[in-house]
Amino acid sequence: MRTAILASGRGSNLQALIKACASGSLPIEIVAVGSEQLGAAALERAKEAGIPTRVFQVRDYPHRQAQEEDLLIWMRENQVELLLLAGYMRVLGPQFIRQANFPVMNIHPSLLPAFPGLHAQRQALEYGVKVSGCTVHLVDEGLDSGPIILQEAVSVLPGDTEESLAQRILEVEHRLYPEAVRRLVLGKVERTGRRVQILLQEGLE
Ligand code: GRF
Repeated sequence: MRTAILASGRGSNLQALIKACASGSLPIEIVAVGSEQLGAAALERAKEAGIPTRVFQVRDYPHRQAQEEDLLIWMRENQVELLLLAGYMRVLGPQFIRQANFPVMNIHPSLLPAFPGLHAQRQALEYGVKVSGCTVHLVDEGLDSGPIILQEAVSVLPGDTEESLAQRILEVEHRLYPEAVRRLVLGKVERTGRRVQILLQEGLE
């Protein structure tokens, strides 16, 4: 499945997806990596893997919608069938979501619907939860509000800082995201409204 990835930062989830593809465990072809951040480490990781990259800096466009229209054109040119957000720091607008004729997935570092938006790990620590985690979900027009595909819990430990919790969650993210994508592309994800059922398959459970 021809897949594009949008990433704004360090790109460790992007790297995990590239690795899963290379090992043969994830049957997608990453055809393009985009970012709105010039110089994002994620772009370097993509280049090292031989994946074409493009930068869509918001300030180069008259308004946000124009940037998203350009993103869509780029995805159509690349015949994208699946879009993965991997630390993409902008919310895609409703127009984009309506016009995207392919699934869009995201990973978020909390157990949604708790702590959507920025600094999810800080929010979790400040709230005082004992368990947080990460969520892979389909992207809808809201903020981290789309149907949930997979979640996994991570304990919050006494003495955790934002960094230590983020790191522990990240290790799970790197396994959970490729796993969720794999299930989707293998047709094992069945959706009824908000509810997503993962169909059982030998070797996956
Ligand atoms: C991850 O924590 C992800 O859940 C969130 O942004 C972070 C991206 O990290 N959406 P990286 O750039 O993949 O290392």
